[in-house]
Amino acid sequence: MKSIKLGFKNVKPFISDDDFSRYLDSALKKLKLLESGKGAGSNFLGWLRLPYSEDYKEINRVAKNIRAHADTVVIVGIGGSYLGAKAIISALEDDFGKRKPEILYAGFNLDGEYHKQLLEYLNDKNYAIVVISKSGTTTEPALAFRLLKKHIENKFGKNKASHRIIAITDKNKGALKQLSLKEGYQTFVIPDDVGGRFSVLSPVGLLPVAIAGYDIEKILQGAKDIDKITSATTGFGSNDLIQYAAIRNLLYAQGKKIEILTSYHPGLFYFIEWWKQLFGESEGKNGKGIFPAGVINTTDLHSLGQYIQEGERFLFETVLSVNQAKVQLIVPEDKENLDNLNYLAGKDFFEINRKAQEGTIMAHRTGGVPVLELEIGKIDEYYLGQLIFFFEKSCALSGYMLGVNPFDQPGVEAYKKNMFILLKKPGFSKD
Ligand code: PA5
Repeated sequence: MKSIKLGFKNVKPFISDDDFSRYLDSALKKLKLLESGKGAGSNFLGWLRLPYSEDYKEINRVAKNIRAHADTVVIVGIGGSYLGAKAIISALEDDFGKRKPEILYAGFNLDGEYHKQLLEYLNDKNYAIVVISKSGTTTEPALAFRLLKKHIENKFGKNKASHRIIAITDKNKGALKQLSLKEGYQTFVIPDDVGGRFSVLSPVGLLPVAIAGYDIEKILQGAKDIDKITSATTGFGSNDLIQYAAIRNLLYAQGKKIEILTSYHPGLFYFIEWWKQLFGESEGKNGKGIFPAGVINTTDLHSLGQYIQEGERFLFETVLSVNQAKVQLIVPEDKENLDNLNYLAGKDFFEINRKAQEGTIMAHRTGGVPVLELEIGKIDEYYLGQLIFFFEKSCALSGYMLGVNPFDQPGVEAYKKNMFILLKKPGFSKD
């Protein structure tokens, strides 16, 4: 089976064998706890079953219908309700190519300018909306949807508009569910036991990805395959999941408080954003947690690179390495060689990028930054499915090792409460 591979030779100088085996032992115990379904947040383990769900058939059917009728689709959601889809779509799409349908996003900020421009842009588009909110009450997507609902109804008429809106929300609860029932929108359910940031393999992530034209069965196949080879029965020797969770928690205990996820492929920018949300919201609580950061190189080698090389030594890095190029681009020979680049002539950009990666890893290790490498074959649906499930499982496992409930997010309420008081939302007051 093709699978992602964890490399940690550039971590070894920073950890002792004894500590490593203690942490491996603890990681294995926590993996068994996760699999037993008896750990903290045990009523939020539905995501473990998502790769095996048959929902993809109905998702593909609906996606096909939307693709046939709309040139543009607006995905409305925030946090776990949109980042997974955006991560996959932006990893797979051609940056400059024409897309049909074009996928746009709304409801992940409260910026009037963004939404006004979006509405103006949609004036002459043949579009549809997928609105996603598990609670059905989150302010950002609810407000964006209020605007979009009005716009699409004005454009197509109320009845036709209702056939262009799909809602993904709770089975029974929330304003979005009630609205969908009243307006007759087609709906998909986010299972009760699946939290937002663990929902990418449910309709939340899969419907937008299928609408964008990508193969969701391959994503699920990747997730299933990695699930099998990372179960507790695969002792630690070859279990990358246990090793990753053990190493990151050991480094954290040694004062490495920040993990940087690095990619040398700009298309993975939103994948890193998804990863940051997954780990940040899952681990950052009770005064604990590795702070998840991200860089895209070589862009950020001319920015954060200086800090990573020589700044405070509280960092470690995980490099998302890609083994195989999707395309070939050879540097041309130039007779005059005025730019002195002929030493690169005949080389593929992929090879040059790989050398930048290797050189940077060596420099970071020498500079005191432990570097893990997580290698995938190539950036495609199958490997993205593997990565997603690998990170979800390792996030749950790491949370347990840290002693937090990885499936709640009580801290998110603090800003909401203040904002509601300031906006005079009924039921909210200073006292
Ligand atoms: O991971 C989470 O639970 C959150 O990031 C949610 O996805 C986010 O707050 C959006 O919530 P909802 O889908 O209820 O609108």
